[in-house]
Amino acid sequence: MDHRLILELLRTDDSTRVNGLYAQADQVRRDTVGNEVFLRGLLEISNHCRRNCAYCGMYAGRKLQRYRMSENEILDGARRAVAFGHGTIVLQAGEDGVLDGKYVAALVTKIRNETDLAVTLSLGEREPEEYELWREAGADRYLLRFETSNPELYRRIHPPGAGLDMESRLEHLRILRRLGYEVGSGVMVGIPGSTWDDLANDIALFADLDLDMVGIGPYLPHPDTPLVSEAARFPMANRQEQVPNDEDTTCRVVALTRIALPRSNIPATTALSLINRVAGRMHGLARGANIIMPNITPIEYKALYEIYPAKADSIETAEIIHRVIAEQLAALGRSLGVGRGDSRNWTIRRNTCKTN
Ligand code: 5AD
Repeated sequence: MDHRLILELLRTDDSTRVNGLYAQADQVRRDTVGNEVFLRGLLEISNHCRRNCAYCGMYAGRKLQRYRMSENEILDGARRAVAFGHGTIVLQAGEDGVLDGKYVAALVTKIRNETDLAVTLSLGEREPEEYELWREAGADRYLLRFETSNPELYRRIHPPGAGLDMESRLEHLRILRRLGYEVGSGVMVGIPGSTWDDLANDIALFADLDLDMVGIGPYLPHPDTPLVSEAARFPMANRQEQVPNDEDTTCRVVALTRIALPRSNIPATTALSLINRVAGRMHGLARGANIIMPNITPIEYKALYEIYPAKADSIETAEIIHRVIAEQLAALGRSLGVGRGDSRNWTIRRNTCKTN
C-alpha cells in the first residue's frame, strides 16, 4: 500500500470505503491468524518512572503515590494468569531502575519454571545488557512503543536527555530484535500536533520494522500532564491537519496495520476499549485485532497505574473483565486461543534463520 492510498483511507468521509477497509482487514485477519483470540494477562508491577513523557500521568515529576509489587505479589499474579487460562503474562512498569537486571532475570526464570506462560516484558528503555540477561533468563517478548514516527513530535513529547530521541528508540527495537525477542511496538493515535501524514508514516514504519506485535490506542489526555496544558496554549495552526484521538481513526489504523502486517499480533487495546466502553474492544477485534490484554493487576495498585486519567476500568476486577471478554468473544463468534499465541511473523523469521 502506498502512502497516498493509506492517507486516503485514513481520511475518507465515504462510509462505503471505510466499511470496505474494515471488511478487508477482517478477512486478512481470518486468513492469516485465524479466529482465535489470545489473552495476555497484564500485570502492572511498578508505577515508579524516571522519565518525564509529556503525555503520561506517571511521569517522574508528578506527585503521585508510587508502588512496586513484591516478588511474591508478582508470582501470585502469574498464577492468576494461569488460572484465567492466559497463555502469556505481560510484566509492565514505568522505567524503574530498582527493577534491575538481576532482579527481573530471576523473576522471569521463576515464572518460566513454575508455569507454561510466555513472558512479555514492557519496562521501558533499558540497557542492552539487561535485555540480554532477561532474554537468557527466558523472556520471550518485549513491548516498546515508538509513539510517533515524526522525530520532531517525538522530541516535543519526550523531554531532552541523553539518548532519548526517536533514533535511540528505534535502535532499542533493533537490539531487541537481534536478541531474538518477539518485538512489539506501537503508537498513540491523535497526539496533539500529530498530522495525517505522520499517521500514515507510523503505519509504514510498523511494516519497515516488520513488527511481531503492534499496539494502537487513542491518546487519552491526562489533565495533570504537561501535554494537556501545552496543547491548550499552542493549538495547531491548521486544525484540518490534527488527527483526532477518536475510535474510528484508531480502528482505521488497526485495519490498515493488519493489511500491512498480515501475520502480526494486534491487540484490541485497553485505551480503545475505554473510548467506547460498550463496543470499542469488539470493534477492534472485528477490524483486524486478534489479541486482548486483560488487566490482572490487583485493584489497589491498578488505580495508581495512571498512564491516562484515573483509568475508567480501575474499579473493575480481573474477574469482571474476564467475564465481559468471554461474552464479547462469544458474540463475535471468535474462539479463545489456547497456548502462548506466538507471533506467526516471528515463527517464520526464526525458522528461516535456522535453515540459513
Ligand atoms: N493516553 C493513551 N496512551 C498512553 N500511554 C501513555 N500515556 C498515555 C495517554 N495519556 C501509552 C503509551 C505507552 C503505553 C504503555 O501507554 O503509548 O507506550
